[in-house]
Amino acid sequence: MRHKNRSGTYVVVFLHFSATTYNNMRKPVTNTSNYFANPHEIGVGEINPLRALSPGLVFETVVEDYIRFLCYYGYSQKNIRSMSKTNINCPRNPSEDLISNINYPSISIKTLHRKQKAKVITRTVTNVGPLNATYVATVHSPEGLVVKVTPNKLVFSEGVQRISYKVSFYGKEAHAGYNFGSLTWLDGRHYVHTVFAVNVE
Ligand SMILES: *[C@@H]1O[C@H](CO)[C@@H](O)[C@H](O)[C@H]1NC(C)=O
Ligand SMILES: *[C@@H]1O[C@H](CO)[C@@H](O)[C@H](O)[C@H]1NC(C)=O
Ligand SMILES: *[C@@H]1O[C@H](CO)[C@@H](O)[C@H](O)[C@H]1NC(C)=O
Repeated sequence: MRHKNRSGTYVVVFLHFSATTYNNMRKPVTNTSNYFANPHEIGVGEINPLRALSPGLVFETVVEDYIRFLCYYGYSQKNIRSMSKTNINCPRNPSEDLISNINYPSISIKTLHRKQKAKVITRTVTNVGPLNATYVATVHSPEGLVVKVTPNKLVFSEGVQRISYKVSFYGKEAHAGYNFGSLTWLDGRHYVHTVFAVNVE
């Protein structure tokens, strides 16, 4: 959906994080073969319209983010230019790894090598709730995957409406394959739930 930010520019806003991974039957969402769906298949869940009305924090992205997504995904610059009617320059070494950097609520890491240092992802949130708000992070991660959020407390005020935070993933002791977890920001009234999927090798 489109949202007018405080300086009047139209940007695309995801409201997905106000989604819930439980459907309205109060059963976990399943994929078409009726297995319990994992966060990858759900995206970040089905939309809960009541919560979406007052999301608290939003993740803003610009149209260029989506065009760059196509570069990272492997489409040729020529095709992307023709589809998007822009003169976008794709990065020199586009890679699916770069998709993690798009300011999307959920985080997906295609490969985290056990031997590598922590992989750090940055996200920026914009406060669209009351001007004075303090959000605190809670992380749920599978055993062995070390996930840290810095800062783990976001203090918004009239002069501070956007804050970036970093999420680091360290997988030395993690199980091989996809590790799913979540990061939730709470201010006492708003619940901003995001999920992550990290493929450990
Ligand atoms: C509004 O969005 C534009 C484009 O993303 C950005 O440059 C600007 O800083 C934003 N303004 C505020 C107040 O968030
Ligand atoms: C549904 O999920 C199961 C378990 O993750 C998987 O094996 C199956 O291929 C999935 N089916 C579809 C249609 O995605
Ligand atoms: C936000 O906090 C500032 C500083 O404590 C205070 O002056 C202001 O009135 C507060 N604004 C609202 C809308 O509560």
